[in-house]
Amino acid sequence: MKNPPETMFETAFAEDTYKGLTNNPKYLLSKYIYDKKGDKLFQKIMDMPEYYLTSCEMNILKSNTEAIAKAFSSDAGFDLIELGAGDGKKTKVILKELVDKNYKFNYLPVDISQNVLEELETSLAEEISEVDVKIQQGTYFKTLEKLSEYNTRKKVIIVLGSNIGNLSHEEAVNFLENIANAMSDDDMLFMGFDQKKDPQTILNAYNDPAGITSEFNKNLLVRINSELEGEFDTDSFLHWETYDPETGTAKSFLVSKKSQNIPIKKLGLEVNFDAWESINTEISQKYDDSIVNWLADQAGLNLEQSFNDEKNWYKNYIFRKK
Ligand code: AVJ
Repeated sequence: MKNPPETMFETAFAEDTYKGLTNNPKYLLSKYIYDKKGDKLFQKIMDMPEYYLTSCEMNILKSNTEAIAKAFSSDAGFDLIELGAGDGKKTKVILKELVDKNYKFNYLPVDISQNVLEELETSLAEEISEVDVKIQQGTYFKTLEKLSEYNTRKKVIIVLGSNIGNLSHEEAVNFLENIANAMSDDDMLFMGFDQKKDPQTILNAYNDPAGITSEFNKNLLVRINSELEGEFDTDSFLHWETYDPETGTAKSFLVSKKSQNIPIKKLGLEVNFDAWESINTEISQKYDDSIVNWLADQAGLNLEQSFNDEKNWYKNYIFRKK
């Protein structure tokens, strides 16, 4: 039984959750995983041996620090804008080099999580206090609207961690197009893309035996329980991962182990699950050069340079406006 609230939804989380759980097939948006607990779980994921993305990108940044910092730099100084900054662990490698070389810049980390941004600000003050940092809480799309205001000097926009992988190709083109529109001719985009590889390696990264990824995924249900007065029993859902080597799409699901009805009070909703019905909670897209070139081209960007790790599991690309 669905009783849509007559008033508008209180939050975007409420509205998106309502839409996703009344859709067929059911889905939830992965961006809502990241509350305080979700942030912590993602940091644990980045420390897992199976989650190769972080160490691959770290290796790329460490072995190309000088070249990357030089490519970012500009005599008149520049604004370094990081979308989805998180704990900034990898970015600090570059920040340190920029400071050591006396390059003039401001660092503007953007993230959906205020909590993670405040921690980043504090850790930067302790570790690289020379960095002029201005944290910006918000979604990518909202922040991108503000971005074009930064046009008095060179902008370098960076997106690490293959964060773009949570978007469908259509959404990714739209995202890149929004970035391209905010860019001037001198501006640069530096972005990490996880690459297609042995499907088993990919599945293992999203299916760890300790169950950290499962808990991360289920945090969506925990959040619905605490913020929207939902009554999910997380044990009655199974974390399930798939990878399609043809499309390069890894997908995360929560699968209901039984037929059940879940009230979500604040949404005026009771969600009915058949036994083994799924909720899609995330996609993590994997790429190759031709897909990246195609996305860039669609968005009005030129792929200028790429950096890879020795196994070619992960790449960072530099783009400019066409
Ligand atoms: C932060 C979106 C890049 O998709 O690999 C990690 C999130 N999900 N384990 C990814 C995630 C499950 C991650 N991104």
